[in-house]
Amino acid sequence: MIRRAMVSDVRHIAELINTYAGTGQMLFRSHAELYETIRDFFVYSADETKAVVGVCALEIVWADLAEVKSLAVHPEWGGRHIGRELVEAAITDARAMQIQRVFALTYKQKFFEHLGFSVVDRSKLPLKVWSDCLKCSKRHACDEIAVVRELFPAPAVAEGNPDSLAALRYDVPTPLVQLGTSPRRNKP
Ligand SMILES: CC(C)(COP(=O)(O)OP(=O)(O)OC[C@H]1O[C@@H](n2cnc3c(N)ncnc32)[C@H](O)[C@@H]1OP(=O)(O)O)[C@@H](O)C(=O)NCCC(=O)NCCS
Repeated sequence: MIRRAMVSDVRHIAELINTYAGTGQMLFRSHAELYETIRDFFVYSADETKAVVGVCALEIVWADLAEVKSLAVHPEWGGRHIGRELVEAAITDARAMQIQRVFALTYKQKFFEHLGFSVVDRSKLPLKVWSDCLKCSKRHACDEIAVVRELFPAPAVAEGNPDSLAALRYDVPTPLVQLGTSPRRNKP
């Protein structure tokens, strides 16, 4: 079953995420970071053992944008639609918050396309999204794909809406360009 994460889950969430981080599929998350953001997390716990076998977070970026991140399903539990259910839980949460669109940065393009996401040019995402790039070892040669799912129709004049991230879009500034060829990171 899917439920909101509790502080007692942090050790298990870290183990799940950081096992994949060890193979370069996700960004490492410290226990400190997980405790700070634990309210963002959903977990899937096995009915019998109650063990946490899946995890996903929704991080609100701005009034009209949130990120689906830290998605991981234990390999022994793959292919049972747990990943789908976790993303849908995050999306339900985003809808409840009236967030217009969600995005993910991923190597699992097909998985997200299955769930109604579309690939977008990652340079279209606002700079605020790239803050984690600075701690990513792949920031100089990042190859993740940006995918977006619209949850509500876009406002007619997004540019005129001060709450819209469209108002924040601008070119990649010099400091990030100096860090690498692409302002990217390797996390979901
Ligand atoms: C990617 C991941 C979360 C998928 O979890 P999962 O529970 O096995 O996926 P689901 O069973 O929910 O799959 C949902 C659908 O996507 C498809 N799918 C799953 N993984 C896929 C993949 N890698 N490529 C293409 N399609 C995929 C499934 O076949 C299923 O299709 P269906 O609805 O037609 O049956 C899991 O493999 C994982 O944790 N991977 C390692 C960490 C990672 O890469 N996380 C993503 C970071 S953004």
